[in-house]
Amino acid sequence: MKIWLIAAMSADGKIAEKAEQSSLDWTSAEDTQFFVEKTKEAGVVVMGRTTFSTIGKGLKDRRVIVMTKNPTEATPVEGVEFTNNSPADLVKRLISEGVETLALGGGASVYSQFLDAGLVDEVFLTLEPFLFGNGVPLGEKFARVNLELVDTRKLNARSVLLHYRVQRSFMKPVIERTVDWQYHHLLKKILEEGVDVKPIQGEGSRMLLGAQMHFDLANGFPMITERDLGGRFMIGALGEHFAFLHGARTQEELKAFGCAWWKKWVTKERCDIFGLPEGDLGPGSYGPAWTAFPTSEGEPFNQIEHVVKQIKERPNLRTHIISPWIPQYTLQHSGIPPRKVVVAPCHGYLHILVFPETKQISVHHFQRSGDVPVGVVFNIIQYAAFTMMIAQATGYTPKELVYTISDAHIYESQFEHVKQLLDREPRVFPTMYMDSTVNDLLDFRPEHFTVADYTPHEAMIIPTPV
Ligand SMILES: NC(=O)c1ccc[n+]([C@@H]2O[C@H](COP(=O)([O-])OP(=O)(O)OC[C@H]3O[C@@H](n4cnc5c(N)ncnc54)[C@H](OP(=O)(O)O)[C@@H]3O)[C@@H](O)[C@H]2O)c1
Repeated sequence: MKIWLIAAMSADGKIAEKAEQSSLDWTSAEDTQFFVEKTKEAGVVVMGRTTFSTIGKGLKDRRVIVMTKNPTEATPVEGVEFTNNSPADLVKRLISEGVETLALGGGASVYSQFLDAGLVDEVFLTLEPFLFGNGVPLGEKFARVNLELVDTRKLNARSVLLHYRVQRSFMKPVIERTVDWQYHHLLKKILEEGVDVKPIQGEGSRMLLGAQMHFDLANGFPMITERDLGGRFMIGALGEHFAFLHGARTQEELKAFGCAWWKKWVTKERCDIFGLPEGDLGPGSYGPAWTAFPTSEGEPFNQIEHVVKQIKERPNLRTHIISPWIPQYTLQHSGIPPRKVVVAPCHGYLHILVFPETKQISVHHFQRSGDVPVGVVFNIIQYAAFTMMIAQATGYTPKELVYTISDAHIYESQFEHVKQLLDREPRVFPTMYMDSTVNDLLDFRPEHFTVADYTPHEAMIIPTPV
């Protein structure tokens, strides 16, 4: 059953200037018209006894249910039922009676209880041009509800109708989440048990071979809290990921998706080494490997598109695999042409596991090489978002992101920063809301993601030599 909250509000969030006032005293004729149309569309309207007293009669062509503690004492009114059911019991009863849509007509106590019980699906608010200063608020004493804006409409020269959808999350309420120490332990383990190596890039690092973290996504979105990754950092990470899903190969294409950090890798000097034009990541980079994998038949193969189709058609298969690695464009030794990629793909090896019985999806992501203080934290955001997106695009609920890093390292220039990070206690992971209307993996954009309940330690810029 769908439940709509319908209210008129002053611009300072009051639904009445004083208690027991009739809404008709101050709302516009267009709002009344909207209320009548929308409640007729729903067919059933629930309101509190106080609100009903301000109306004093039934509503034409609508079933009206009035909440009161003493239904037997109410004076019978035609077309009106009185109930002392709790919101949850009332909803259960109406579902069993076949009711498909329910409109909440107020007042504040009814809105509050239905919101608090998580029973509201959509919210229609008419903003009328007043600041009451005092009065009855829309509701109170309910936990925060996140909304996504569906539509706005000017009802007349002075009034605006806002239509929201309540955002739902498959994640546990923040209060029930446990603090995830896996990232903290990984940093510590690399520092304490890693081996010192001198890679060809020059700067030494300490590395651990084969690290793994399991993120139960119901326990929150795995965005580390030891330093603030919100704002433009997160947007850049998502933008890069979406660009690659679309096959982006050049700095310009990445920029169009909001990711600006590839510039230093695709300078003229670097691209010259691989015989590539300036700004080109190369045919062996993530985007082309995922979406235009070279085949012996000649036709490029789009792994993303085909894996999505395979999941939908044959979810039980264990072959939902995506690889960013085109060996003939990536390996380098004498006797073969120079590699065709400025940076050999580090991440983006994906195994998607579908559990049709529970309607859940998990992703095992493998990272060949990971700069754990810098790159990895953004990659975790990308693949946790990917897990949520692929789940929504195929009709499943996200379950787990298993994150394996083969060469997990910390560069020497990062040691001091990592020690500071280890002094900061991790906090619970935030909630990530995703626009519920996007159903195609390629249609997601950063604005479809909203982070809530994120309480990180302060931002820390950590250098990275790569
Ligand atoms: N602007 C708008 O869109 C809009 C819409 C509606 C209302 N309003 C305004 O809101 C104000 C009224 O709001 P309000 O919060 O004071 O009152 P209300 O929600 O209209 O009614 C409260 C009454 O409903 C009954 N009730 C509520 N929850 C119940 C439950 N779980 N079980 C049994 N009975 C329950 C109780 O009636 P008993 O006391 O009989 O037990 C309670 O006193 C009025 O000023 C009205 O104009 C504005």
